[in-house]
Amino acid sequence: MQSLNRSRTQSRANRSLSLGGMDFAEPKKKNNFVGKILLTAVLTALCILMLKQSPNFNTPSVFSHHEEGVTHLLVTGGAGYIGSHAALRLLKDSYRVTIVDNLSRGNLGAVKVLQELFPEPGRLQFIYADLGDAKAVNRIFSENAFDAVMHFAAVAYVGESTLDPLKYYHNITSNTLVVLEAMASHNVKTLIYSSTCATYGEPEKMPITEETPQIPINPYGKAKKMAEDIILDFHKNSNMAVMILRYFNVIGSDPEGRLGEAPRPELREHGRISGACFDAARGIISGLKVRGTDYKTADGTCIRDYIDVTDLVDAHVKALEKAKPGNVGIYNVGTGRGRSVKEFVEACKKATEVSIKVDFLERRPGDYAEVLADPTKILHELNWTARYTDLQESLKVAWRWQKSHLNGYGPVLVSSI
Ligand SMILES: NC(=O)c1ccc[n+]([C@@H]2O[C@H](COP(=O)([O-])OP(=O)(O)OC[C@H]3O[C@@H](n4cnc5c(N)ncnc54)[C@H](O)[C@@H]3O)[C@@H](O)[C@H]2O)c1
Ligand SMILES: *[C@@H]1O[C@H](CO)[C@@H](O)[C@H](O)[C@H]1NC(C)=O
Ligand SMILES: *[C@@H]1O[C@H](CO)[C@@H](O)[C@H](O)[C@H]1NC(C)=O
Ligand SMILES: *[C@@H]1O[C@H](CO)[C@@H](O)[C@H](O)[C@H]1NC(C)=O
Repeated sequence: MQSLNRSRTQSRANRSLSLGGMDFAEPKKKNNFVGKILLTAVLTALCILMLKQSPNFNTPSVFSHHEEGVTHLLVTGGAGYIGSHAALRLLKDSYRVTIVDNLSRGNLGAVKVLQELFPEPGRLQFIYADLGDAKAVNRIFSENAFDAVMHFAAVAYVGESTLDPLKYYHNITSNTLVVLEAMASHNVKTLIYSSTCATYGEPEKMPITEETPQIPINPYGKAKKMAEDIILDFHKNSNMAVMILRYFNVIGSDPEGRLGEAPRPELREHGRISGACFDAARGIISGLKVRGTDYKTADGTCIRDYIDVTDLVDAHVKALEKAKPGNVGIYNVGTGRGRSVKEFVEACKKATEVSIKVDFLERRPGDYAEVLADPTKILHELNWTARYTDLQESLKVAWRWQKSHLNGYGPVLVSSI
């Protein structure tokens, strides 16, 4: 574990430096007893003085104490796509944020953007750690006074989950258990959990309500469902405030262009439609392959519910504000409006102003015709509703970031588009 929080690393470095400079004493008169005592006294005084000057001595770490009027959130997976956008919103709303991420999929560059926006002490710290490491997680919980946890960290590609299911049960189900155990033993009472519409599988009736039976059909959906079950079982016998948010298809990025979506290049093949669309617009891939044009939908292509990340993050803040000890809230987070793949591709062409080549192919096994949220419950109970529902506009915002970050959060590349 390594803390990248600026003030902390600095003060730590200062302290070890000053202590390191102190073991110089090599008294010349060996049996000068009084001299030795004097030297010891002077050294001790010096030591105390130096320690006192170190910021860590008087104010250990702002993050380690609860503070009246300040809510301190642990954001797991905060270097990732959704987690970084959530952290930005929380910081803007004056929350104190600790990001824990092992950067296996997220980007340190996103954390740096946040640190530059919120450099003041006590706002944001980043801790590099793996949630699969229960010892590290417990240490983080004992060294930090969290009021609530937003648990985003996960692996999240349906296709990959069928190829490597253990990775999914490990990094979703088992890691959620680790987080939950740490919360229980350190008395952290509020959990906002990232779940997914993939926990519903292929329901017969659309739109999907929170009462729709959950019968997931791939390891990703199953791992998330299991994590939900663990949370709910634990909750029954505890005073924890739990909010489970089941997201539909997340798109878009920060309207002010500070953050974006930058998955590892090797994950492109598992990627989502918006990523593929931007890659096609950039010429990284030759075009888009639309699989299935004979579904029982208006234009024959699959229908999905696309939710803008800004709205999604807003749902998290509302869930946090309404979380009550002993209560559990489960909510779909979607727009309630379906868009076909054809519509999506058209919106993407307009947003990028690139005439992307589209091939229409056979169906891909495992895709279902229509997935649509019924967001009534979250409107009634949390007063949340999607506001960024212009697909083309969401894609335009995301494209703007993509175009100016051809190398993601890495070093800037110069190019002709
Ligand atoms: N993107 C979507 O469309 C979508 C839809 C439904 C649900 N979700 C859920 O939202 C959450 C965030 O997804 P995302 O799209 O931002 O993914 P992401 O891959 O961009 O972010 C996940 C983050 O978690 C971190 N992480 C993974 N395993 C870790 C571990 N063992 N220890 C520490 N950090 C770890 C990764 O490094 C990454 O930064 C996930 O729980 C995902 O299942 C996403
Ligand atoms: C991230 O965590 C996994 C375990 O979940 C671990 O195997 C992997 O080495 C970690 N990655 C990094 C970059 O630390
Ligand atoms: C997930 O778990 C596996 C172990 O099953 C590990 O090898 C991997 O690094 C973990 N993390 C990610 C992001 O895949
Ligand atoms: C619900 O949200 C709207 C828009 O943000 C706000 O104007 C309204 O006051 C809210 N209603 C309640 C009951 O909080």
